[in-house]
Amino acid sequence: MMDMMTRIANLTLETMTSLWPEAEGLPEAEELRGLLAVPPDPALGDYAFPCFRLAKVLRTAPVKIAEQLCAAWKHEETARVQPVNGYANFFLNRENFARETMTEILARGEAFGSSRQGEGKTICLDYSSINIAKRFHIGHLSTTMIGHSLRRIYDFLGYRTVGINHLGDWGTQFGKMIYAYKTWGSREEVEKGGVDELTRLYVRFHEEAEKNPALEDEGRAWFKRIEDGDPEALEIFSWFKEMTLKDAARVYDLLGVSFDSYAGESFYVDKTGAVVEELRQKNLLTQSEGAWVVDLSEDNMPPCLILKKDGTTIYATRDLAAAKYRQDTYHFDKCLYVVAYQQDLHFRQVFRVLEKMGYSWAKDCVHVAFGMVSFEGEALSTRKGNSVHLDDLLDLARKKALEIINEKTPDLPDKENVARQVGIGAVIYTDLSNNRIKDIDFRWDRALNFDGESGPYVQYTHARCCSVLRKAAETDWPEPDWSALTDDEAQSLLRLMSRFPDVIREAAEKYEPSMVTRAVTDIAQAFNKYYYVHRILDGEPAQAAARLALTRATATVIKTGLFLIGIEAPERM
Ligand code: ARG
Repeated sequence: MMDMMTRIANLTLETMTSLWPEAEGLPEAEELRGLLAVPPDPALGDYAFPCFRLAKVLRTAPVKIAEQLCAAWKHEETARVQPVNGYANFFLNRENFARETMTEILARGEAFGSSRQGEGKTICLDYSSINIAKRFHIGHLSTTMIGHSLRRIYDFLGYRTVGINHLGDWGTQFGKMIYAYKTWGSREEVEKGGVDELTRLYVRFHEEAEKNPALEDEGRAWFKRIEDGDPEALEIFSWFKEMTLKDAARVYDLLGVSFDSYAGESFYVDKTGAVVEELRQKNLLTQSEGAWVVDLSEDNMPPCLILKKDGTTIYATRDLAAAKYRQDTYHFDKCLYVVAYQQDLHFRQVFRVLEKMGYSWAKDCVHVAFGMVSFEGEALSTRKGNSVHLDDLLDLARKKALEIINEKTPDLPDKENVARQVGIGAVIYTDLSNNRIKDIDFRWDRALNFDGESGPYVQYTHARCCSVLRKAAETDWPEPDWSALTDDEAQSLLRLMSRFPDVIREAAEKYEPSMVTRAVTDIAQAFNKYYYVHRILDGEPAQAAARLALTRATATVIKTGLFLIGIEAPERM
């Protein structure tokens, strides 16, 4: 189904070209569609086309143009049109629009909005990408949820997706950690305290090293042993890794997130040699203060460091190897890096170096950047010790949701499970509710406000639809009479739902899950407006059947939208 705006834009274009075949500089279909507006007062029509843009090109007054356009417009089943003050105002044939939209949504059900546009194409997504021996804190929430949502969106559009958790599991800090563990730690305490204990040991190392700088060498020596494949060093290191992943798995389970690959930085270490060699052969390496770099001054960027003075690789070198590996292994059409905007320069450098190496697919690597999360107005920093651990946050969200449920609907069956869905939904919704590049301030009262723009609000609307459908289930309903859906409230709801497939496409194109969040919120609000004005199950059976169908369609679309942003949709709340 082509959405109504596109259809009207196309018909307007047709009318324009038949009226003014010679005119140059008339807007194309795409621009026309962008010019169409929804009048604030439905009495003025469902869409309006402002003719001012044409006035210059046609050297005619907008009022005149609108009149000519409306007179020449073929009054067919799509819409009738009326000139008002330089606007062509379109009035949809509301019953046809309702029938078409409803038939489409009901026929496709949960697949409504999906497509096969991505068939045969592969998208790699690098997201979450946590660091070993660090607790999963709220700073990693955005990368995890944006990546997860984009992945579901691309899957829905028929792409093959590869989810990669590019673990931060390489660097001298792991040598220091092993030294600290061997010196001040014990197996039992690490087993008991997990990642927290590792962090404690790491902090201890830095405190001691301040008094005794020789410890730095000890740390480096242990890292060298990891690099050289020393069995003891490797054993301890992989045990640290295992524990971090065990901790993270709990969070991933709660969030419903999974990956196809956990190939992190250490996986690429033995692949960096070939990259360095290739850079050398392609004459891209220059020496600078003893280190090897790729000069990027032509691109107004600082040089990309490849090999440190001591000959070891850095983060960027491993990312170069990783990009090549992903292209060789998955033949991606796009490789998305869902990483905080602070790493903007890093990715620009890496992508530019790939380009200089002659890889045309460098242009298919995209840094999907996002802003920072603060918590109740406070910036978070691990150093200051006020970082919020994600599993604590999610547990608290669950508890708070349960309190609200106990207050509002104490008899709700399966309360604990619903509280989990609602609490976690509230957190995810907040994270995906703004343009990703904007900073987010997480506040409990907003996240859990059942009446505001929130996850629980949208979930509640879905549950409300389900409850109406349950009530109606015992009755046999006749064929719906679509003329029952021609009122303003039904029409604005239908309009939003008919745009849903476009929204998903656009969200994929702009790597912007928040567009889906916006769409489900608008749909929920439109449904609630409808619900307050119209009694769904009262009145003529054929009319009630149509309203019921609208309710079913709303439930389906909200459920799909929530799924695409990673939120569950309970049927009772
Ligand atoms: N581990 C890094 C961090 O937490 C993010 C890694 C992103 N992915 C990449 N390929 N560099 O900051």
